[in-house]
Amino acid sequence: MEAMIARVLLLIFGLLLTCGCTVYGGGFSVEFIHRDSAKSPFHDPALSPHDRVLAAVRRSTARAAALTSSSDDVGSTVISRSFEYLMAVNVGTPPRHLLAIADTGSDLVWIRCGNGSADHRAPAAAAAPTPVSFDPSGSKTFGRVSCQTDACQAVPDATCDADSNCQYLYAYGDGSRTSGLLSTETFTFDVAGAREGGSRQVSVANVNFGCSTVATGTFEGDGLVGLGAGAISLVTQLDAATKFGRKFSYCLVPHSVNSSSTINFGAHANVSEPGAATTPLVNSNDSAYYTVTLESVKVGERAVAAQRSPIIVDSGTTLTFLDEALVSPLVEELSRRITLPRAQSPDKLLHLCYNVSGAQDPQQWGIPDVTLELGGGAAVTLRAENTFVLVQEGTLCLGLVSTSDGPQLAILGNIAQQNFHVGYDLDARTVTFAAADCARTSSS
Ligand SMILES: *[C@@H]1O[C@H](CO)[C@@H](O)[C@H](O)[C@H]1NC(C)=O
Ligand SMILES: *[C@@H]1O[C@H](CO)[C@@H](O)[C@H](O)[C@H]1NC(C)=O
Ligand SMILES: *[C@@H]1O[C@H](CO)[C@@H](O)[C@H](O)[C@H]1NC(C)=O
Ligand SMILES: *[C@@H]1O[C@H](CO)[C@@H](O)[C@H](O)[C@H]1NC(C)=O
Ligand SMILES: *[C@@H]1O[C@H](CO)[C@@H](O)[C@H](O)[C@H]1NC(C)=O
Repeated sequence: MEAMIARVLLLIFGLLLTCGCTVYGGGFSVEFIHRDSAKSPFHDPALSPHDRVLAAVRRSTARAAALTSSSDDVGSTVISRSFEYLMAVNVGTPPRHLLAIADTGSDLVWIRCGNGSADHRAPAAAAAPTPVSFDPSGSKTFGRVSCQTDACQAVPDATCDADSNCQYLYAYGDGSRTSGLLSTETFTFDVAGAREGGSRQVSVANVNFGCSTVATGTFEGDGLVGLGAGAISLVTQLDAATKFGRKFSYCLVPHSVNSSSTINFGAHANVSEPGAATTPLVNSNDSAYYTVTLESVKVGERAVAAQRSPIIVDSGTTLTFLDEALVSPLVEELSRRITLPRAQSPDKLLHLCYNVSGAQDPQQWGIPDVTLELGGGAAVTLRAENTFVLVQEGTLCLGLVSTSDGPQLAILGNIAQQNFHVGYDLDARTVTFAAADCARTSSS
């Protein structure tokens, strides 16, 4: 009897999941790659580390400028989300290896679908690396989703096509969009740091994803994995299939470091480093967003501004945007303390820049720490590498800017999160930050 139950259970779970889940103690990790690292086919070897940072800043502001100049409504200025971090996913049976953008600011998982006619990735050295697409007709496990399903209802702006398939159109805050048919497939993840004899892959069947036939915007990836807080994000879908819990964590290797790190799911997502600070999630206007409360800002030990306001934690935005009421006193205090010679800004969004060509060693810059005091008594101390960016040879600029120059919405961007282990837990409704050396703690 027991053996039969076990077999039935095995059959049921075998359909959902074919991983060594017990081996992994209820979680797993996948390699997490910066778009400009040597491991990424989207990396441009001709760029120096600071060229890359400036390119990322420009990617995140170029679209804002384009939208502002063509829009009558100045209040609707939007900052393009520059989508810097990638994770590998293998889609279908047999699996097709794709590199997708990992984004905590949206929910939908989508990949570029095609019929295999343009499938050769150009070498990384090519000027514009071509994305790879997935051919549904070549997979045994591909399925369409009916527009009557809960999955279809969970996608904003989904409609029925003539065959009752779920047709989606998903738009991002900056005007980028993807459309196609909502579909299901087996997603297989390559496990980072797999142990000898352990599973090297985790497969999850029937993942709902957008089979994208049109994608417009600045997506440099073969698709996008939405890690947001809503019902159709990968985080929610993985938990439904594995019961690993709706939690994940990542460690962002700085733009300038040639190394990858990992994104961790389930029990692997515990952020337990000493000094970890946990803050509660608060309700968002957009269910995809991870929103926390910013209470006040300190420079060194000195409180410079207090103004309780919501702030989104986002891996897809480069700079950090804060309310003008916080940015002005912050800039004032930093410019009072920093004695480096000032420099001309190379970008209109960056206001406070210094000439460091005479002081190559960051230890000599004398940049004080900036502490963000978050709800629940959590304090996140940002060091110079989180607050300032070298945007060209010898020019260092403050990467904390005013929301009035951009999204009208406070965002903790990815430069501020570099060298932090950041854990998101939707069951506990918390976000946890711990300082870490992401290149060292990574799998490679
Ligand atoms: C694949 O798609 C391209 C472009 O949409 C089309 O020109 C081509 O005929 C298609 N090939 C097959 C085998 O369907
Ligand atoms: C980055 O690291 C890889 C090895 O992991 C190496 O092959 C490559 O040359 C490095 N690239 C740069 C720009 O340092
Ligand atoms: C992670 O945290 C959960 C809940 O606190 C605990 O049950 C689990 O054992 C932890 N896992 C690891 C790998 O530390
Ligand atoms: C929701 O939107 C309103 C109006 O735009 C804004 O005042 C409020 O701060 C937003 N709340 C959150 C949590 O973002
Ligand atoms: C920075 O200062 C040096 C002198 O120390 C000067 O030669 C250089 O032109 C300055 N660069 C900028 C961008 O202001």
